Amino acid sequence: MASSLAEFCVQLPKVELHAHLNGSLSPATMRELVERKKAEKPELAEFRIPDSLEMDSFFPLFKFIYKLTDDEESVRIATRKTIDEFAKDGVKYLELRSTPRKNDETGMTKISYLEAVLSVIEEPRTDIIVKFIISIDRRNTLEEAQEVVDLALAFQSRGIVGIDLCGDVKVGLFNNLRPAFERAKENGFPLTIHFNEVIENLGEAPDVLSIKPDRLGHATFLDDYCRQVIYKENIPVEICMTSNLVCKTTSVLKEHHIKELLNDNHPFILCTDDKGVFFSEASNEYRLAGETFDLSRNELFEISYRSINAIFNNEELKTGLKKVWLDWKKEHASEF
Ligand code: IMP
Ligand code: ZN
Repeated sequence: MASSLAEFCVQLPKVELHAHLNGSLSPATMRELVERKKAEKPELAEFRIPDSLEMDSFFPLFKFIYKLTDDEESVRIATRKTIDEFAKDGVKYLELRSTPRKNDETGMTKISYLEAVLSVIEEPRTDIIVKFIISIDRRNTLEEAQEVVDLALAFQSRGIVGIDLCGDVKVGLFNNLRPAFERAKENGFPLTIHFNEVIENLGEAPDVLSIKPDRLGHATFLDDYCRQVIYKENIPVEICMTSNLVCKTTSVLKEHHIKELLNDNHPFILCTDDKGVFFSEASNEYRLAGETFDLSRNELFEISYRSINAIFNNEELKTGLKKVWLDWKKEHASEF
C-alpha cells in the first residue's frame, strides 16, 4: 500500500449528495469574495475567517457568508470554486443544493440567484458531473415553498434533479409545507428531506415518511417505527458525521448512528453537509468513517460504489459511473 488512508480517500472516486452551497465555501473562497467587496463594504475585511474548525463558530460564519454571496457574480464565483474543490477532492458526481435567496440592496432575485448557480453548473467540464437540488427552508410559508417548486419546474431542464427540505430543525412543521412537496413529487421530482436531526422531529416523522421521500438527510434519531419504514422502503440515508459532531447531535463518532446502518447493511452515502463551515471535505468523511469503524479500503470502496445507486439520475448514468469506479479499482489494485 503506497498511500496513507487520507491520500487513498482523496483518490477514491466519490459521489457527494448532501452539500449546501453556502455552507461549502472554503476560507480561500471567502477571502476572494471579501477582496471583491471590501472597497464597498470595508467591514467585511474585519471579519476573522477561521482556517480550521472552531466549535461554535459556524453560526457567525454562515451569517458572514450570506453577506458575501449577495450578488449574482459572487454566487457564480462561490459555485465555481466549490465545484473545483469537490473535484480536486476526488468527487466525480456532485448534487449541490441551495435555497434561492434574494437581496433587495443588490437587486438579486431568487430567479437570478438560481440562474447564477445553474449557469456555472452547466459549464462544461470533464472531471466532475454536477447537478442541482433546490432547497425549501423550514421557515418558508407554504406560498414561499410553492414558489420554490415553481422555480424547479421552470428550470427543470437545466440540471435540477430534486427538492430538499432544510433549515433550522426546530422551526416549522413538515405538514405545513406538504402540499408543495406533493406537487413536486407529482411533477416527477425526487425528494430528500432533512429528517430527525434532533429528537424533537420524531413527532412529524410519520408525516414525512408518508410522502415516500427518495432519500433522507441525517436520520439521526430513529424509533422502531421509523427504522422499520426506512428499512422496508430501502430509503438511502445521507450521513454527515462531522456535521453531527459539530452540531452536537452525536456526542462521539464511535456512537454515530451510521453504526446501526453498517450493522444492518442499510444503504447510506457519506456526505459533508457544509464542508466550509465544518472544515471537512468528502475524503475526510471517508477517512473518519474508516478510522472510527475500522473499515478496510475495500469496504470504503464498496460504500462509495453503492452510493451511486442513490443518485437522483437515470440508470444509464449510474451504469457509466459504476464503470468509472470499477476501472479505477482495477488501476489502483495495489492500494487495496
Ligand atoms: P444554502 O441553502 O446554499 O444557503 O446553504 C445554507 C443553508 O443550508 C443554511 O442556511 C441551512 O438552511 C441549510 N443547512 C445547512 N446545514 C444544515 C443542517 O445540518 N440541517 C439543516 N439545514 C442545514
Ligand atoms: Zn444538510
